[in-house]
Amino acid sequence: MFQIIAVYILSIMISFSVVAGDNRIQVDLPLMMKEHMLSNMRDHLLALQTITYQLSSKQYDAAAETAEQRLGMSSMDNHGASHLGKFMPKEMGSIGTNMHKAASQFALIAKDAEIEGGLEKAFGALSEVMKHCVACHEVYKVHP
Ligand code: HEC
Repeated sequence: MFQIIAVYILSIMISFSVVAGDNRIQVDLPLMMKEHMLSNMRDHLLALQTITYQLSSKQYDAAAETAEQRLGMSSMDNHGASHLGKFMPKEMGSIGTNMHKAASQFALIAKDAEIEGGLEKAFGALSEVMKHCVACHEVYKVHP
């Protein structure tokens, strides 16, 4: 009886630690690089907010431009992606690259948002971009 209770309690503790625990992989970056990356991240969030505002106010070309310049392939040089990439696990770098590709893809689709059904497609493509934000955040961290 005692053993059954002990196993039961243990399994509850394990399931709690899975829910509440932080199993993300710690990525150690040089301080300046970490600060640079986090400041880029905050700009990514601002860019998403700007894009959703621009879509909601029918500024489709502007939404495409924001996405390409701030999140898309064009943004990679600006934030030194190749330099930063050397310090990241390979998988993390590819999620980043795929996010930039998805943002450039969104930019192409958003330009046609005024066509019938185009806005729905644009939101679908924006959700694809955000999937990559979520995927990376789920697995990696830079804060201890
Ligand atoms: C390749 C991985 C990766 C991608 C892609 C990514 N992030 Fe992050 N982001 C991180 C990591 C790692 C942190 C630090 C988390 C931690 O240490 O707790 C972070 C932190 C942040 C922060 C907090 C910044 C701060 O000052 O602490 C914001 C906001 C953020 N990300 C937004 C975004 C948005 C929006 C996207 C998508 C458009 C995105 N990120 C895509 C890896 C990524």
